[in-house]
Amino acid sequence: MPRKRPEELRSHLWFGVDDLRSFGHRSRAKQMGYGREDWGGKPVIGIINTWSDINSCHTHFRQRAEEVKRGVWQAGGFPVEMPAMSLAEPFQKPSTMMYRNLLAMETEELLRSYPCDGVVLMGGCDKTTPALFMGAASMGLPAIFVPAGPMLRGNWRGNTLGSGSDSWKYWDELRAGNITGDDWEEIEDGIARSPGTCMTMGTAATMMSTADALGLTLPGVSSIPAPDSNHSRMATRTGRRIVEMVWEDLKPSDIFTEKAFENAITCVMALGGSTNAIVHLVAMAGRLGIKLDLERFDGISRKTPWLANIRPSGKFLMEDFFYAGGVRGLLAELKDLLHLDCMTVNGKTLGENLEGADIYDTDVIHRRADPLSVEGGLAVLRGNLAPNGAVIKQTAADPILHVHKGPAVVFADYNDMAARLDNEDLEVTKDSALVLQNAGPQGGPGMPEWGMLPIPKKILKQGVRDMVRISDARMSGTSYGTCVLHVSPESFVGGPLALVRTGDMIELDIAARRLHLDVADAELVRRKSEWRQPPRKFQRGFGAIYANHITQADAGCDFDILEGNAPTPDPEIH
Ligand code: FES
Repeated sequence: MPRKRPEELRSHLWFGVDDLRSFGHRSRAKQMGYGREDWGGKPVIGIINTWSDINSCHTHFRQRAEEVKRGVWQAGGFPVEMPAMSLAEPFQKPSTMMYRNLLAMETEELLRSYPCDGVVLMGGCDKTTPALFMGAASMGLPAIFVPAGPMLRGNWRGNTLGSGSDSWKYWDELRAGNITGDDWEEIEDGIARSPGTCMTMGTAATMMSTADALGLTLPGVSSIPAPDSNHSRMATRTGRRIVEMVWEDLKPSDIFTEKAFENAITCVMALGGSTNAIVHLVAMAGRLGIKLDLERFDGISRKTPWLANIRPSGKFLMEDFFYAGGVRGLLAELKDLLHLDCMTVNGKTLGENLEGADIYDTDVIHRRADPLSVEGGLAVLRGNLAPNGAVIKQTAADPILHVHKGPAVVFADYNDMAARLDNEDLEVTKDSALVLQNAGPQGGPGMPEWGMLPIPKKILKQGVRDMVRISDARMSGTSYGTCVLHVSPESFVGGPLALVRTGDMIELDIAARRLHLDVADAELVRRKSEWRQPPRKFQRGFGAIYANHITQADAGCDFDILEGNAPTPDPEIH
């Protein structure tokens, strides 16, 4: 492979040229205590770190950044850590999804405006992974990812607790009167007990595994638990590798091909991964000029077995998944469904990286001969209620509801739902379909994770734990239940979901991929003529930019001005 020469480095334009501007760059580098021997002729490696005091999943990233730097120095590079907006799922409102594109923009512009030759991306908490990828892919420099890794298993009186999933479960038990307030506080003490991301197969674990399958990480490292010393050594190895990637000029466009994205989708389906992966992968591919439509996801789901027995769809947690062989073990079991010739960041193909991989616990990662389900975790639904598609995690839905017909109970928005859901006089039965409107990309705004609508208290008391729920929102990857999500077009822009009224009959048939509103077309036309768009919440600021440029769920919720792979010029340097 031809190697770059030092004069061909992008950073040479800042540091290597003999003019007044370069004098300024060099003198200010010296102000920080560096000499020519530190940067001269070496690749400058930007480390985009999403560490923050407010991000509980990334608390180890200060140390990991130092470990990445150690690797960069070892390999003859010059590391420059650049903090970026941290999207902390547990704290940010209305939703981190509202800020995914902002972090993507920040990543791209940091890399463009500073003298970077390559980049190490540090993220993991839900939207940070797609955001960092999107920005780096648009910038086009050699890029590699340090996934935060999952936290250790939670524990309550000997019971294993999983992030999110067990919060919803025990919250329902508290509301039903089956556990006490003291029990609930003990669960709060035990459910998050180490650095790292959610350790269920939520959006974080799904997207970190997806990055692995795409070839953005060193092979298999997405499964390493955050506190494991393997994680530190992985960070240093990643720092060493990015320097070589710069010399080899191994760019995102060489790795993230259409076939690589199909590998990523296959991985998501075999994991029983988060529905959010669909929105993110569509947006990520879009940055490389690759169009992924929802049918591609559904087609791959139909031929990919679900193998990873991880909550919320399954039983175990990410720590168990790591010990059982992790992503490499899982992918090795799917070789005939993968494009093994795809290049990855370590300069080897996916097929080469899977050599020697195996499964060590077949309860956690099932063999092909004994799948948890013959189809993947996600299904795409269509019908007059979702002309542009909707999504359901079929592996997390009660099988008894896979084919269902019931009357709608409609909530106009989140506040309406919160105010009325637990009222004793709410006319709802276990066969009702709960419908939430105005929770989509524009309506939320930000498409918040409200799609796992709570079961009404009076239904919970009957012992019911799942109902059909339909919205244009997303749901947390840690959530479960028969939740139809991402209905497109959304209700806020006048999609058919806006026209549903309490009492209308709704039909769901997952096997037939059907979502149907039993209302005559003429009546829907009449209702549409009466429909008025609710007022926008943001009149100025980022919220206004967001509303003006966000695309619908089936298009990935990127900004229309950020899609595509048209070249963007480097800054005028001299
Ligand atoms: Fe950060 Fe779940 S809250 S990954």
